[in-house]
Amino acid sequence: MNQSGDEYKYWDRFKATYDDDNLFLVGDITHQAASEWLQARLGPDDSVLELACGTGHYTEVAAKVVKEIIATDLAEGLLETARERFAGIPNIKIQTENCYGTSFADGQFDVVVMANLLHLIREPATALEEAGRVLKPSGRILVLDYTSHGLERDEKKAMMRRYFSRWGEIPTYSFAATPENLTALCEKAGFTVNDAVLLGEGCKVACVEAVKGRINT
Ligand SMILES: C[S@@+](CC[C@H](N)C(=O)[O-])C[C@H]1O[C@@H](n2cnc3c(N)ncnc32)[C@H](O)[C@@H]1O
Repeated sequence: MNQSGDEYKYWDRFKATYDDDNLFLVGDITHQAASEWLQARLGPDDSVLELACGTGHYTEVAAKVVKEIIATDLAEGLLETARERFAGIPNIKIQTENCYGTSFADGQFDVVVMANLLHLIREPATALEEAGRVLKPSGRILVLDYTSHGLERDEKKAMMRRYFSRWGEIPTYSFAATPENLTALCEKAGFTVNDAVLLGEGCKVACVEAVKGRINT
């Protein structure tokens, strides 16, 4: 595997503590805001692919309202936690997949969810292209990325301190997500953005909903 595709190794080191670390970094308010944003955009007819599910926080959120979700990741340690967490839940399937190129057929899904993926990988455009490939015509992507964008200077410093204390150095290829830079990435990959917002307190979350294809409004 070349360097693009090995980013999961950074996260798999934290398999024992990921959920706790993540909540410590992000906080309840932002977790809740992101979860509500996501759930409000999903429905009972949706067949969903999640790229980079990690331990499955957003898998659980989505599964409550969708027909079915296949949650995928490359980090076997995190996937193990997800498998245990969702054992026996009929509408959740956990599968090992690389977000840069999956085993799914063209046009298979209504929605692709990408939570905290695009700002943490070397080639977000390739992951978006793959999402576009596996989506039905007019299928949607739901993208959300935690970010320090929009915080006051002191809040930003505090967020960085929380990050370093649990996870150490931030990957050099990561970037601070904003509704604007995520919108630009999605549009470049051939999507039409219909919602782009910044939510949360203490740690922000940039959220973008976009439809496959270029739609003239
Ligand atoms: C910050 S975690 C986010 C996990 C989860 N979506 C969440 O928000 O809690 C980033 C995730 O991206 C996954 N990842 C990184 N590169 C990947 C790749 N090429 N294919 C699939 N997953 C990948 C990591 O394994 C990790 O689970």
